[in-house]
Amino acid sequence: MISPDQYDIKDPSLAGEGKQRIEWAAREMPVLRFIKERFAKEKPFKGIRIAGCLHITTETANLAIALNEGGAEVVLCASNPLSTQDDAAASLVVDHGIPVNAIKGEDDATYYKHLDATLDSKPQLTIDDGADLVTAIHTKRTELISEVIGGTEETTTGVIRLRSLEKSGKLAYPIIAVNDAQTKYLFDNRYGTGQSTLDGITRATNILWAGKKVVICGYGWCGRGVAMRAKGHGAHIIVTEVKPVRALEAVMDGYQVMPMAEAARVGDVFITLTGDKHVIDRAHIEQMKDGAILSNSGHFNVEINIPALESMARGKRRIRPFVDEYTLADGRCLYLLGEGRLINLAAAEGHPASVMDMSFANQALCLEYMIVNKGKLESRVYPVPEDIDRQVARLKLGAIGVDIDQLTPEQVEYLASWEEGT
Ligand SMILES: NC(=O)c1ccc[n+]([C@@H]2O[C@H](COP(=O)([O-])OP(=O)(O)OC[C@H]3O[C@@H](n4cnc5c(N)ncnc54)[C@H](O)[C@@H]3O)[C@@H](O)[C@H]2O)c1
Repeated sequence: MISPDQYDIKDPSLAGEGKQRIEWAAREMPVLRFIKERFAKEKPFKGIRIAGCLHITTETANLAIALNEGGAEVVLCASNPLSTQDDAAASLVVDHGIPVNAIKGEDDATYYKHLDATLDSKPQLTIDDGADLVTAIHTKRTELISEVIGGTEETTTGVIRLRSLEKSGKLAYPIIAVNDAQTKYLFDNRYGTGQSTLDGITRATNILWAGKKVVICGYGWCGRGVAMRAKGHGAHIIVTEVKPVRALEAVMDGYQVMPMAEAARVGDVFITLTGDKHVIDRAHIEQMKDGAILSNSGHFNVEINIPALESMARGKRRIRPFVDEYTLADGRCLYLLGEGRLINLAAAEGHPASVMDMSFANQALCLEYMIVNKGKLESRVYPVPEDIDRQVARLKLGAIGVDIDQLTPEQVEYLASWEEGT
């Protein structure tokens, strides 16, 4: 057992429950298991210090265990104050000797204290979900830069922040944008967020989706997934967008598209998935119907203007776990879920393990790629190498027992030629 000054979790006695849930998740993570078994033999991370700022879930636990098996010294902190599963954190500490600094519901000061404590491990590789480690290393902890070999980024918002850091010329080490692998965003962002966001809202509210007017803000990979799944429940979908092509896609997928100013007046449930700020703003809140439910599944809690909602309310009470009722001056009640934080992780368990299997297989293989290519990469944001993306897809297909066709030599030649026409 590691010493108590190496970690900060809610309660080590939760380890038993966490261990079982980690094992349950592992059953749905065959690709990561395959990689873990190889890592255990080859030890690609022997003696390498890895800091991970990730949602501390049972799936993340399986990633940390796989890296540990590969010889890494892993330290973790949360990438969101409300997403930690305290039992998974306890099991990592107690059963696997992996230091974790994360407690569900921690305040912002504790969140940053935990981040700092994790960086005290002097990481050589960083894993981010939202770019908080990289940001801290480039601002307050610049003394750490010289030892860092590289890092990876899990989510769209983090990739946006990192590209902006790269553009400013200040990015000091290579990063692989794991989010942008096809085997990540096409599955995790779409099917993972689609299912788990509805799961979070359902667990928090127990609403009936059928017949509800559900406003999806942002028709990116996450928005598409949530719209698809809410439609399946019988909801009437309204999409808001700022990009014309995506708005058009939403129209042709059969949804109503309108500006937020209009949607605000008709929606029963609002779900933001834009990675943008104040997508639901004061003027929209002023128009909403009594009983409207506001939730966010984008990375940060800035998509809904919560300070405006707070200032407009004459009363606030927690009516159910993860449901805050705001009574406005005119008597309307609005319901904010999970304090505006990622509702799928705040009120449910995040993505199902089967999709995190692919996201974290990409993470594991990209971290190994960083070690193999140590010193050869520039301080840039790199895409996931195509062969890693393909390998993850191939392994997943194999694990779920799906065979596919192969090109015949004739087809290979045909597809490589330009001479042959009708
Ligand atoms: N909840 C989760 O578990 C989870 C999982 C993956 C990603 N995310 C986060 O979800 C967010 C969306 O991710 P994505 O992969 O779908 O991104 P994306 O870039 O594919 O889509 C975002 C969409 O929002 C639109 N948008 C931006 N500003 C808008 C505005 N003011 N009004 C309406 N639409 C607007 C953009 O045009 C874009 O089409 C990011 O913050 C990402 O980090 C969350």
